[in-house]
Amino acid sequence: MMGKPTIGIDIGTANISIYSDTEQMIFHEPTVLAYDTKKNKVLEIGHEAKDLAEKTPGSIAVISPLQGGIIVDFDMTLRLIKKVESRVSATTGKRFKQMNLVVSLLPGATNIERQAIGDILFSLGVRSLYFIEGSLAATIGAGLPFEKPMANVVVDIGAGKITTSLVSYGGIVTSATVRKAGNELDREIAQLVRNKYNVLIGLESAEKVKWQLRCDMHNDSEMIEIEGRDLVTGFPITIEVASSEFQAGVDEFLNRVLSVVQTTLENSPPELSGNIRASGLTLTGGGALLTGLSEWLNSKVSVPIHVSKAPFEAVALGTSMAMQHIDRLINIEKVTPR
Ligand SMILES: Nc1ncnc2c1ncn2[C@@H]1O[C@H](COP(=O)(O)OP(=O)(O)OP(=O)(O)O)[C@@H](O)[C@H]1O
Ligand SMILES: [Mg+2]
Repeated sequence: MMGKPTIGIDIGTANISIYSDTEQMIFHEPTVLAYDTKKNKVLEIGHEAKDLAEKTPGSIAVISPLQGGIIVDFDMTLRLIKKVESRVSATTGKRFKQMNLVVSLLPGATNIERQAIGDILFSLGVRSLYFIEGSLAATIGAGLPFEKPMANVVVDIGAGKITTSLVSYGGIVTSATVRKAGNELDREIAQLVRNKYNVLIGLESAEKVKWQLRCDMHNDSEMIEIEGRDLVTGFPITIEVASSEFQAGVDEFLNRVLSVVQTTLENSPPELSGNIRASGLTLTGGGALLTGLSEWLNSKVSVPIHVSKAPFEAVALGTSMAMQHIDRLINIEKVTPR
């Protein structure tokens, strides 16, 4: 273990992030690959692959191999990780097998999920592999006093899942997850535009609409321009939709956030309640960037709401830092090939 560099890997539904133990980001790209089904060949990964989504001929599939925070396509995940390794070794000069790897998992990840990730990395020759629970990593990456017997509550809002955990004394005390998050809101946006305006838009466009939304749009007069295809004429069309039309979809998203937060708070030991009231909740994940989220959540749970610095990367950063604190961490385990 000594002497080898360590990297922390967060394989998210939307993004893969990798950090070095010197806190340098070495990879951060969409968890997407473009695959030529005729030639059985990966054409692009990451940003380049995501840019191809819904623009390619039928023989080229643009694939997101994770959904709801878990691997749904093992083979494509393996191919993606192989390409990611090539990129990482091009920048670091080292292969995965020459490094210690710490990989974040969602709390309660099944053995199947653990084995899937283990099998992929061991097949690349990795010899030193650790799993850490993503929420524990998030508290480290967010700079919270994770090792103290104190309430560190993180709310990680990603593309595929929302997880809230209470971390104290280096371990997860209680945690809750829902497997519907940012991607689900994109789908709802696309569906609303289709049902109400007879206009077909891709999920990429729907995501861009989402980035313009806010938690409370009830009194908005703001219009959002959306490009799509008119389902009646078949022609390209640009429509304007009032942001307030998306309020119901945003509300569903918000209610999911609130329900996991409530479950976690309800399951928290009373001894830590006063502590939670003082230290509050820390938001991580891309979903934390939804405008007005902190204020909205504060109005619901009456505790201070903080947004982690670099919310997209808190988990990967904490994962890369975990080895330095391994003696003080509970939810980290060394993995061996089966
Ligand atoms: N300004 C924004 N407003 C709302 N959502 C945003 C914003 N910016 C990014 N997002 C959303 O954040 C999500 C990606 O976040 P993140 O990278 O943390 O997810 P992930 O870690 O890949 O997914 P998961 O943890 O669920 O497996 C996407 O759904 C993206 O649309
Ligand atoms: Mg994530």
